[in-house]
Amino acid sequence: MVAEDIKKGLAGVVVDYTAVSKVNPDTNSLLYRGYPVQELAAKCSFEEVAYLLWNGELPNETELSEFTARERAGRALDPVVKTVIDALPTTAHPMDVCRTAASVLGARHELAEDSSPEANMKKAIDLWAAMPAVVAYDQRRRRGQDAIEARQDLDYSANFLWMTFGEEQAPEVVEAFNVSMILYAEHSFNASTFTARVVTSTLSDLHSAVTAAIGALKGPLHGGANEAVMHTFDEIGIRSEESLEEAATRAKAWMEDALAQKKKVMGFGHRVYKHGDSRVPTMKAALDKMIAHYGRPELLGLYNGLEQAMDEAKAIKPNLDYPAGPTYHLMGFDTQTFTPLFVASRITGWTAHVMEQVASNSLIRPLSEYNGPEERHMP
Ligand code: COA
Repeated sequence: MVAEDIKKGLAGVVVDYTAVSKVNPDTNSLLYRGYPVQELAAKCSFEEVAYLLWNGELPNETELSEFTARERAGRALDPVVKTVIDALPTTAHPMDVCRTAASVLGARHELAEDSSPEANMKKAIDLWAAMPAVVAYDQRRRRGQDAIEARQDLDYSANFLWMTFGEEQAPEVVEAFNVSMILYAEHSFNASTFTARVVTSTLSDLHSAVTAAIGALKGPLHGGANEAVMHTFDEIGIRSEESLEEAATRAKAWMEDALAQKKKVMGFGHRVYKHGDSRVPTMKAALDKMIAHYGRPELLGLYNGLEQAMDEAKAIKPNLDYPAGPTYHLMGFDTQTFTPLFVASRITGWTAHVMEQVASNSLIRPLSEYNGPEERHMP
């Protein structure tokens, strides 16, 4: 086999069909079940988008009210999951906490070993409904705070923020959070979704697939980049007294130095999009609203400075994690909680792919070209 035949990182390899989403890097577009993601973000609740990803169509009024009732019924923090979380050190990465919670929820599910379409749909909705309480409680316990009970009168996003902060948030904050959940929900055969499909292809169960996907998402080349963006901002230094222009100048200098040292700067670049990430304009608009809402122009200065310097030096564009990181920071989330927020959202896309894989399964098992020692024998 010649070296060119080996597709390292599976770059450019099409491994299967999917009807869940379509990424078109030439037009910078992303469709969920045919709908442009920016239209969904402008007009839908995250609940409607979750329904769409799982069912292929947007819900009518009756379907939506039945669906949201199911989500609300599954919001409470499972007491066994809480006990397990409490047994973990507060220094454990929140992604490890999420991964553990997904695994415990799987082992405790009444349909654990049932992978029928009905059982998988129920397990997907239950896991999606349960994860916000896990993410919210984990941030609270690291701050020495108690868990807050879910509210039945709030939608998914408002309740998520309520359980995290114990205060109702302004409508524009809830809206920005809802937008971020929609944008993070699905993105075809990315590394974590592919992981979920590989696990499913062995006829393992849905929770095992999601647990493995969470492990894949944790890495900084994938979901962990939203956290890493905030570390970059922190390294440059967030100075609340600074003007937008001053912050931009410092950020540009930081980027020039980082690129001179051949560093990979998180939040920029994408395996599929080479002219810009389709989700960035929508998320950046949400970030702009949050910067205005919280009165923090210096963050926009850092954002603009890094983006401009990267564009001038390498023409590499930001990905979704770039505007999402500072948005979550402004809302009050700890940096380590950012990737778990991505988990809470992406459970919808992962499980839509799990169901699609089950419906048309073939064991995923690629080949490798051996380059170790020639056959040899014991003396
Ligand atoms: N910072 C600096 N340089 C970058 C870069 C970044 N974030 N992303 C890509 N590049 C450069 C590479 O150094 C390489 O340059 P070279 O040809 O001079 O060696 C070139 O662009 C191609 O990059 P490569 O890593 O081969 O592209 P890829 O398709 O394999 O990688 C990512 C895609 C996402 C892994 C990569 O862009 C990256 O590591 N980004 C940062 C992590 C991140 O934000 N991940 C979230 C993705 S949604």
